[in-house]
Amino acid sequence: METPKHIAIIMDGNGRWATSKNLSRSEGHREGSIAIDRLMDSAMEFDLKYISLYAFSTENWKRPIAEIKAIFNLLDEFISTRLEKIKKNNIKVLHSGSESKVPLQSMKQIKRAIKETEKNTGIVLNFCLNYGSQDEILNSISLLIHDRISKNKDLTKKIKKEELENFFYTYPIPDVDLMIRTAGEQRISNFLLWQSAYAEIYFTDCLWPDFDKKELKLALDWYAGRTRKFGGLK
Ligand code: FPP
Repeated sequence: METPKHIAIIMDGNGRWATSKNLSRSEGHREGSIAIDRLMDSAMEFDLKYISLYAFSTENWKRPIAEIKAIFNLLDEFISTRLEKIKKNNIKVLHSGSESKVPLQSMKQIKRAIKETEKNTGIVLNFCLNYGSQDEILNSISLLIHDRISKNKDLTKKIKKEELENFFYTYPIPDVDLMIRTAGEQRISNFLLWQSAYAEIYFTDCLWPDFDKKELKLALDWYAGRTRKFGGLK
């Protein structure tokens, strides 16, 4: 069975999960963080390589401040309580997204996790935090211009695809093979737009806090049945 090298997950439905159980939205996010823990175990069983998780988007700042705080607190807690397990399991943590506006404490925690797992060679767990694809593309163009100026290069020279990708938040993670969105919505919401140009996109009604090994297997089986042509012929 062909396994996708890079899986990107839009972890949607924490709020609806909580509402259906008369709980607060924050409790839904907490259950969502437990689903991430479970995902790490399943990912090792299925021998996956790269996993990108949409933990907080550039648009999520529009949410109530209490909910924003709850999500960042959960991230801090996740790293404090799971970092030893992550290290033991040879998982490498990465962050994709802008550092601006992210609470200092959360940036500190994520940087600590990146540093302490940098030599690990197993699964790459990429936390997409304060991430938006449009922001990423605009930011890369600015970085590329600055780079050309600082190296006295011709500013008007045509930009090559790889040249721009070098400045992406996700560099050097390969393109997405399988994108999963939970909770029934069928949109990509500014997540890895460029990197998902030829991704297979799997939508499930399962709410993120309920996502488990069985659900992941369903997505992987569905992916294995796809014929990927990348614009060519079979
Ligand atoms: C979408 O569900 C989910 C988010 C915007 C946040 C995702 C965060 C987590 C899974 C927990 C954070 C923890 C770590 C470790 C990063 P929603 O709130 O939009 O759900 P709804 O559409 O049902 O309201």
